[in-house]
Order: sequence, then structure tokens, then C-alpha cells
Amino acid sequence: MTDSAPAPTLATGLVSALSASSPGDAPTGSTGPSAARTDGPARVVIDLDLPGATISRHLYGHFAEHLGRCIYGGFFVGEDSEIPNTRGIRDDVVEALRALRIPNLRWPGGCFADDYHWKHGIGPREERPRMVNSHWGDIVEDNSFGTHEFMDLVELLGTEAYVNGNVGSGTVQEMSEWIEYLTRADDSPMASLRRRNGRDEPWKVPFFGIGNEAWGCGGNMRAEDYAALARQYATYVRDHAGNEVTRIAAGASDSDYSWTEALMRAATNLESKDGRPGPFQAISLHYYTMSGPWADKGSATEFSEEEWYRTLSRAAFAEELVARHATVMDHYDPHKKVGLVFDEWGTWWNVEPGTNPGFLYQQNTVRDALVASLHFDGFHRHADRLLMANIAQTVNVLQAMILTDPDSGALVLTPTYHVFAMNAGHQDASALAAHVLLPEAPAEVDGRELPMISASASTTGQTALVSLSNLDAAEARTLVLDLRGRAVTGHSARVLTGASTAAHNTPEQPEAVAPRALDAVREHERGLEIDLPPHSFVTVELQLG
Ligand code: AHR
Repeated sequence: MTDSAPAPTLATGLVSALSASSPGDAPTGSTGPSAARTDGPARVVIDLDLPGATISRHLYGHFAEHLGRCIYGGFFVGEDSEIPNTRGIRDDVVEALRALRIPNLRWPGGCFADDYHWKHGIGPREERPRMVNSHWGDIVEDNSFGTHEFMDLVELLGTEAYVNGNVGSGTVQEMSEWIEYLTRADDSPMASLRRRNGRDEPWKVPFFGIGNEAWGCGGNMRAEDYAALARQYATYVRDHAGNEVTRIAAGASDSDYSWTEALMRAATNLESKDGRPGPFQAISLHYYTMSGPWADKGSATEFSEEEWYRTLSRAAFAEELVARHATVMDHYDPHKKVGLVFDEWGTWWNVEPGTNPGFLYQQNTVRDALVASLHFDGFHRHADRLLMANIAQTVNVLQAMILTDPDSGALVLTPTYHVFAMNAGHQDASALAAHVLLPEAPAEVDGRELPMISASASTTGQTALVSLSNLDAAEARTLVLDLRGRAVTGHSARVLTGASTAAHNTPEQPEAVAPRALDAVREHERGLEIDLPPHSFVTVELQLG
């Protein structure tokens, strides 16, 4: 193994220049969403014949932690539940997520991952040791949902596994044996143990996390100390039986560019024999959107217009973070062999009144939907470096796709779910640049420019998909889709909005915010003219000649 870390001087300067950027800082230029000025009507200009990077389907990934009612009650109700289930896993949740074509699922944490000892979650359930889930409610975890249950869920969902290992309180041997248990085919000790527990065939595990938030709940480490451990632990996460693992080092929070730099300096084995970088192939990033400070993040459903715009400005900041972490990575890895994995993103509000503060249960409104659409627009623009992204979290926790009622068991699809559904056509498509031109100067919100229209686009074969967000809380917008380079032979559009910015779905009103056909699309000499309602998300599917 050869190391060829560049001299620190340039990079140190680079990171200190980048570090001036965090939510609330002054506008920072061209790394976030932008809009040029125009004298004419609002326009989104798209060259349909200039496809760019592939938007990995894994940017539409998910995250399920042993936290609150995500696993227990959300995914897993047990075989004896009255709620229809398959081996304890809720059928309705599986059906809803299969409809989204979720590409991967991260498990078991989060902070929980660095407390989790996987051998406690295998074998007969009644014999599994208990543990304390100290991060999330300080409750006793009975380990009834473990490795076999998770891989069963993965198979039912038709998705791919992203297993997050334990560095903070686990051993190298424990991590090494877990990947052997999961993926080895022969009669090795761990493969034999798996068979004794009822599973003959190895599973595929394409993604493996080397700890989580090592700078905090994952061990309170310094960057260089963790970077050394990440090299060591990742070495023993081996490729067994043709299972090729992407090892993901626990990355930075927010604008901690020094953390990314420390990991890139440790990931300098970029010319390994098989052409893959080593010892880890990707680095993660975490960033949450909230309208207030950490101590009082804001209510999910009761917010002012000022909080609406501040939230959306902070969501748009996620793209700036991706761009700046990618800039650090480019310095060490100009050929983009190491992926950036944004494996925790989304809104984090104060918990719903009357719920356990440790369970992170929150409602989900039109505002959450636009937070999601803004993230996706940014992700599409950085598809060349972004390998994966995982919203936190899939069911009943933070910015969930699905909320379930603890008493009745009723299931509700959130506005965020519908953004994932409407954007599903971007998965594995080729990104198209979408230039936004607006007649007005962008508003300055929370120290940065926030154009009222956000857009992104992609193409696959004879179709293109355009995503449009109208961030204006009160005003409808008419805009022209200026479509160049290919003939457009047909179109259809859908809109997601609600009666107010805080509209949300409940068991009583499950479709208060749900996609509907949008008829307000007219032929225009440049392409199409579209009316976007206030606070709305619109997708336009184009048939191309
Ligand atoms: O998603 C909730 C928590 O947020 C995760 O456990 C942790 O990684 C992050 O701080």
C-alpha cells in the first residue's frame, strides 16, 4: 500500500477558505442554487441533447434506525400483530416503499450503530440478550429485530442493504465477522453460524458503514484518530464470495471541511490493484435542516412565513455543503474515485407535543416536501461526486415517508413520500442542466440568496423529467420551460401542494397533500408555459422525438 498525500499547505488554505460557510453566513457565490436575471418571463432553460452525469438511484436512499417507532411499530410489529405482516414486517409499509423503488436502506443507525453488537441480534429471539438504547429514550432494546430480520426486510422491499458497523464500542474482529456472517458462502465459522440460524445462502451487502458520527456519538474522536481507525476497520471488511463492498467512512457534520480533508488524506490508496480506492471507497456527510437553533428547532406544523423562508434557505444550503466537501475531495481525488455519501439529511423539528422527546416523532408538511425537492435539485447537480444519499428516517422518525398511528396502526403517506414518488424517474437517469432565469432579484434569506424557483432535470432514452419548486409562500408563478435540442412530442405534469404551507396528511385526511394532475401547461413558442401554484412542487414528464 502506498500513500501519496499532497503537502498540507494548499489544502489547509483551501479548508480555511471554505470554512467561512455555515447557515447564516454571508452569501458565498456560485456553489448553491442560483438564478440569472431576465427581462422577460421566468424561464427554465434546458438543453435536452446535452446529458451529463448519471444520477445514481442510490441518491434516493433511506435510513432506518433503532430509534423511537421506526423499527418497532414502524417496520416491525411481530408475527402476532393484528396488523397484516410477513414474518413480523408490516405489509402496508413494504407495499408503500416498493412503490417508491427505494434503492437502499441504511441500518441499524445512526448513533445506535456504535452501541450495537450484532451477535446479540441473531439466534432464537427469546435467547437474545437485551441492551439499553441510551441515545434514543434510554429504553431497553430486546434485539428481536436483528440481522436476519433486517435482511428479510431488504428482500421484501427489493432493495439493497447498507449495514452500518460499530467502531465506537465494537472491535475490528466483530466488524470483520459481521460481513463474513452476511456474505460468505462456504463453511467458514460465520457462514456456518448463519446456516445454523436458518439462512443457507449468503446475502449481498453492497454498502458497509465504518462507524457513524465518530466526531460525536460514535466515539468523540479527533479527525486524524478516527481516520486511522477507519483505515484499520475497513481493511477487515472483506469482499467474500463475490460480494463487492463499498466501505463508507463516517464523515463530517455540516461545514466541517477539515474532517473531510483528514479522511481524504487517509484514503490515498487510490491506485489499488483492482482499480478501486482503498481502504474505504466513500465518505459520508450529515446535515439537518431546522428553522431555529439546535435547542429549539421549531415546530413541524406551526411556523411563520419568516420561518418558512429560513427553512428553505437552510435546505438550499445543503447543496453548498456538497459542493464544498466535493471541492476538498477533488483536491486529493481529481478523478472522483471516492464517493460522497450524504447518508443523513432532512428536517429535524421539535417533537410532536405529548410524544417521547427521545423518539423524534414529527409531522411532515408541504414545507418538508419542498425541503426534499430542494435537496434533490442540488443532488442532481452534483451527481458526479455524490454516490448515495439517505433521508432520515423512513418511518415515524424525523422527515419520514410514512407515519403510523401507535394506537390504530393507521398508515399515512407524508408529503415527502410524494416528492420521492414524483421524482422516481430521475433514478439512474442522466442529469440535464436546468438554468433558471427570473425577472426579480433573489431574496436574501438567512444570509444567502434564495431564488423563488428551483429546478432540475434528467433524461432517459426518449423521455425527460423536469422538477420545479415554487418556494413562494403566497404567489403563483408562471414560467416558460425553454426546451432546446430535441423535439418534444408529448407532456404530462403533476403538482403537489396543499391549502397552506403547513398542510399535512393525517389518518382522517390522508390526501390533504397528494399529487394531482396539473392541467395548467400550455404549448409555447419556446417549449411549454406552466402555472405553478404557490408553495408547490411540480414534475413535468416529456416525451422526446
Ligand atoms: O437521525 C438521528 C440521529 O442523528 C442519528 O442517530 C445520528 O447519526 C444523527 O446525529
